[in-house]
Amino acid sequence: MAQLEQIAAPGSEWWRSAVIYQIYPRSFADASGDGIGDLPGITSRLDSLKDLGIDAIWLSPFMTSPQHDAGYDVADYRDVDPLFGTLADFDEMLAQAHARGIRVIVDLVPNHSSDQHPWFQEALKAGPGSPERARYVFRDGRGKNGELPPNNWESVFGGGMWERVVEADGTPGQWYLHIFDATQPDFDWTNEEVKEEFRSILRFWLDRGVDGFRVDVAHGMVKEAGLPDYAPVADADSMGGNDEDVPYWGQDGVHDIYRDWHQLLAEYDGDRALCGEAWLPTLKQTALWVRPDEMHQTFNFPYLMTAWDAKALGDVIRESLDEFGKVGAPSTWVLSNHDTVRHTTRLAATRLPHGEGIGPKTPNKPAPEISLARGRAATTLMLALPGSAYLYQGEELGLPEAMEIPDEFRQDPTWFRTEGKRYGRDGCRVPLPWEADAPAFGFNDTGLSWLPQPAEWAEYARDAESSDPTSTLALYKELLAARREHGFGNGSLIWEDAGKDAVAFRRGDVHVVANLGTKPLPLPAGATVILKSQPFDGDALPVDTAVWYTTA
Ligand code: NOJ
Repeated sequence: MAQLEQIAAPGSEWWRSAVIYQIYPRSFADASGDGIGDLPGITSRLDSLKDLGIDAIWLSPFMTSPQHDAGYDVADYRDVDPLFGTLADFDEMLAQAHARGIRVIVDLVPNHSSDQHPWFQEALKAGPGSPERARYVFRDGRGKNGELPPNNWESVFGGGMWERVVEADGTPGQWYLHIFDATQPDFDWTNEEVKEEFRSILRFWLDRGVDGFRVDVAHGMVKEAGLPDYAPVADADSMGGNDEDVPYWGQDGVHDIYRDWHQLLAEYDGDRALCGEAWLPTLKQTALWVRPDEMHQTFNFPYLMTAWDAKALGDVIRESLDEFGKVGAPSTWVLSNHDTVRHTTRLAATRLPHGEGIGPKTPNKPAPEISLARGRAATTLMLALPGSAYLYQGEELGLPEAMEIPDEFRQDPTWFRTEGKRYGRDGCRVPLPWEADAPAFGFNDTGLSWLPQPAEWAEYARDAESSDPTSTLALYKELLAARREHGFGNGSLIWEDAGKDAVAFRRGDVHVVANLGTKPLPLPAGATVILKSQPFDGDALPVDTAVWYTTA
C-alpha cells in the first residue's frame, strides 16, 4: 500500500538538496609529485568533478598539521600545510570551483588541536592552574602520587584517553584528555577564550568565501561535568557508542556552541552551512543537531551503518525522513567516507564494527563481484532520495576497499595504538587512479604514492571508465544528471510494496526499486527502465540490482 512521506520545510537553500563530493586532499591528485595530493592537484582536476555533475565539494583538512592523524591534528587553523600548498593555492582552488558553479565546504576540527599548536605548547610550559592549561582538559591524576589517569575513559583509537605530562621541573605531572591520539589534546569548550578563537577561525574562512564547514566530532566537544568513569558496552561503535549515555558524546552543552555559530554564519550572504559529524546511535538523537537554530545538516550515520537488508534499509529511510522532517531539516544520505570501509566492499561484509577495517589477515573477505553490484545498487537507490547526498572520492569509480595493504605502509593511528589488532582506515584512503597507463595511475607524474595502489586499480582508472558506457563512472553521471532533471533532491516520496526483499518507492512518475533478496524480482508489466545499476536483460530485476523505471 502506498504511503506518503513528506519532508518538512522545503526551502530554496542549496544545502537542502545538494550532492556534496568529499575530497580527501592527500589522495585526490598530486601536482607536486611528492606522493601526497595537494590543492593545485585538486584545482587541476575540477573539470572532471564538473563533468561528474556534483554541486559542492567538502575538503578534509589541509591546514598546518604534523599529520599524526592525516591532518585532523591542526597546529594552525589559519594556514595551509606546505604539504598541500599555500593559502594562495587555496584561494585559487576556491575561485576555480566557484567559477564552475561548485560550492566549497572546508573541514573544521574544533574538538582538539595538535599537540604542536602554540596554545598546547604554552599550556605545557605554563603549568598547573594557569589560564594556558585551562584551554585544554588538564587534570591531576588519581593514586597516591597522581600516577593513575583521572578516569578510565578509552581513546577511540585504542589505549587510554589520558596522557601524563612532564612538568617544567622534570617531575611527572598532570594528565591531559585526548579522545583520539595523544597528539590530539581536547579543548575545554567551557572556556571563553576557546569559544572566541573558533568564532574568529570561522570568520577567517568565511571571509575567504567558503560556503560552509563540515564540523569534526560535532558530538564530542562538551564532556559531562566531573568526568565520571565510563566503560563502553561490549562491541560499541567507537565513535558514538550504542548506548544512550556516554559522558563524552552528545552532551547537551554542545548545542549552545552551534546556536552561536548559526548566528555567526547567518551574518554572511549566500546560505553558508554547517554540517555536523555527529556519530549518534539513533536518528532521533542525530536530528537534535539540525534543529532550526543549530546546524544545517548532519551526517546520517545510522543510514551508513545499515546492513544490506531490505527491512533494515526501508526502516532507516522512513525513520530518517520522519526524524529530520520533524525538525524541518533535510535528511542527508551517505554511504562512504574516509573513516569507513568503502561501501562497495562493506555491503558484502559479514561483520564490521566501525573503525576496524579490513586487511590481509581478515577472514572471509567480501567477494568483489557481490560488493560492486551491491555498491552500485545502493547508490542508485540513494540518489533517488529527497535531501542532500554525500559521495566520497573514488566511489564514482566503484573503487573497492584496498584490503591487502602490507603492514609496513600503514599510517592510521588506530593501527599503532591497537598494536595491529585493528587495521583502521588506510584501506579507504588510497590515492585515486586517474589514468590506467600512467605512473601512480595519473595521481601524479612521478609514480610516488603515500599508500600503495593495488595493481588491479588500472581497470578502475577514470580514463578507462570514461569510455565504457557500463562503468560505475557512467552510472554515477547518469544518476546525477537524472536526479537533477527530476528535482529529486527536493520533495517527497511515496512508498511502494515490491515484496519483503525489496525497497521500493515512487518519486512523481518514476518508480525506484532495489532487490536485496536472493531471487530475481519481476518488474511490473509495461515497465520502461530508465536507469539500472548494472546491465541486465529481461523483465526481472536481478539480485543486488536497482532500477528507476516508468510505466506507460
Ligand atoms: C573524525 C574524522 O573524520 C577522523 O578521520 C578523525 O580521525 C577524527 N574525527 C579525529 O579528528
